[in-house]
Amino acid sequence: MTTEQTLYKTFKSKIQEVADVNHAIAVLNWDQETYLPQKGAKIRAQQISTLAGIAHTLSIAPEIGDLLNKLGKSETLSDWDRINVKESLREYEKKQKYSKEFVVKLSAVTSECYQAWMKARSANDFQIFRPSLEKMVAIKREECELLGYEEHPYDALLDQYEPGAKTSELNVLFSDVHSQLVDFVKEISEQEQVKDSWMYQAFNKDSQWKFGLELLEQMGYDFKAGRQDISEHPFTTSFGSSDVRVTTRINPNNLYEMIWSCIHEGGHALYEQGLKSEDYGLPTGMYLSLGIHESQSRLWENNVGRSLPYWQVNYPRLQQLFSEQLKQVSLEDFYKSVNIVKPSLIRTNADELTYHFHIMIRFEIEKALIEGKITVADIPTIWNEKYKEYLNLDVPSDKQGCLQDIHWSHGSFGYFPTYSLGSFYAAQFYHQAVKDIDSLEKHIENGNMQPLLDWLRKNIHQYGRFFNADELCQHITGESLSFKYFMNYAKTKYKYIYNI
Ligand code: CO
Repeated sequence: MTTEQTLYKTFKSKIQEVADVNHAIAVLNWDQETYLPQKGAKIRAQQISTLAGIAHTLSIAPEIGDLLNKLGKSETLSDWDRINVKESLREYEKKQKYSKEFVVKLSAVTSECYQAWMKARSANDFQIFRPSLEKMVAIKREECELLGYEEHPYDALLDQYEPGAKTSELNVLFSDVHSQLVDFVKEISEQEQVKDSWMYQAFNKDSQWKFGLELLEQMGYDFKAGRQDISEHPFTTSFGSSDVRVTTRINPNNLYEMIWSCIHEGGHALYEQGLKSEDYGLPTGMYLSLGIHESQSRLWENNVGRSLPYWQVNYPRLQQLFSEQLKQVSLEDFYKSVNIVKPSLIRTNADELTYHFHIMIRFEIEKALIEGKITVADIPTIWNEKYKEYLNLDVPSDKQGCLQDIHWSHGSFGYFPTYSLGSFYAAQFYHQAVKDIDSLEKHIENGNMQPLLDWLRKNIHQYGRFFNADELCQHITGESLSFKYFMNYAKTKYKYIYNI
């Protein structure tokens, strides 16, 4: 073994130690959301906080910095090893920018802000949240300066969730959303509306649960490397690619919630199960960005899970499980009902088109706050004006308006745009998959999802962070992310559904 190979091996084992601790935290978090008894919450918070401190100390150890700096000069490393060194060094240097004082201050502001948000939400009063959110915005602006940026301060925050993404690119994407999607949704709203009253009957919970498992199985989710449980908010968590778990929520009076949370989380989980197990803990064994992660969930949820071929194979089974409720509902009507477009106040309930207006509003507000063009006190008014402008809705209360999301109280500025990026990447990737895979939709219609999963594994999952998001997109589709793929997908689908 050369000296460099020995150094690389040491680096790998050090970085995997950090991953071990982080995944142990993930197990505790998973348990907290699924099975933790009520009285266990306090001691659990302490355990998680202790482990988080240990993970942080391990990850900023000077020894790792030395190894990375030596390896960074090497000219004999393989491409994959070189990427792992480069990405790890980038992460390492980023962590070094945070002083201990800043980290302590940020954590204090975050917990204050979260408490204030909870209170404000239950009192339905933004003013309770305002002073803490002001502190949060101030510290986030400080964070932008501390991290540094080339073009726009908001880039520094975006980079934490979507490495390499630029505010200027988002401006282009959302100006396309604004100029193309707003009018199209308006056109849809003027057509005869689709009915879905049958979806709000009583649906036996056990049958729903069973159906959800069948859908996951059909997608290719590996139950020997994961499991599904119930939680209040559905999520996916990974403890390494051989143990990737999903949760779902079952509403006995609404069939939609379980079905699309299963497919959505299933898409996230397939990505995590498809990461290289031998690259555990290394950048090439990790998901690329939140936008790319979301592209995997949205592709399954919308491009596949809300398509006609998908329900051609799955609807007969659903009708069999709920024969009373669905006996009068044709496949065609069912398909249309799962694709209803209707402006609504709450982001998490939005359809796949108007969803992006919710994100655009949050992006515009966040950006203006970071630029210092608006103040926290302006948020409710601006929020309500934008909901009127883009969605033609009057916001009746802060609770149904600017207090609905947890993100700002957590300090997650720069996070929202990744949701839209996910859908736009999904549309572009799916367009390419249809080109690359012979009769893809025929396979889906037959319940054979394997060709699509193989394509995703080969083109996306196996790479981890080998490419950045833009390189990956170019590698797969030959061009950078473009809104036109989403718009074409939307037009083709919804013109049919709404007879336009
Ligand atoms: Co998601």
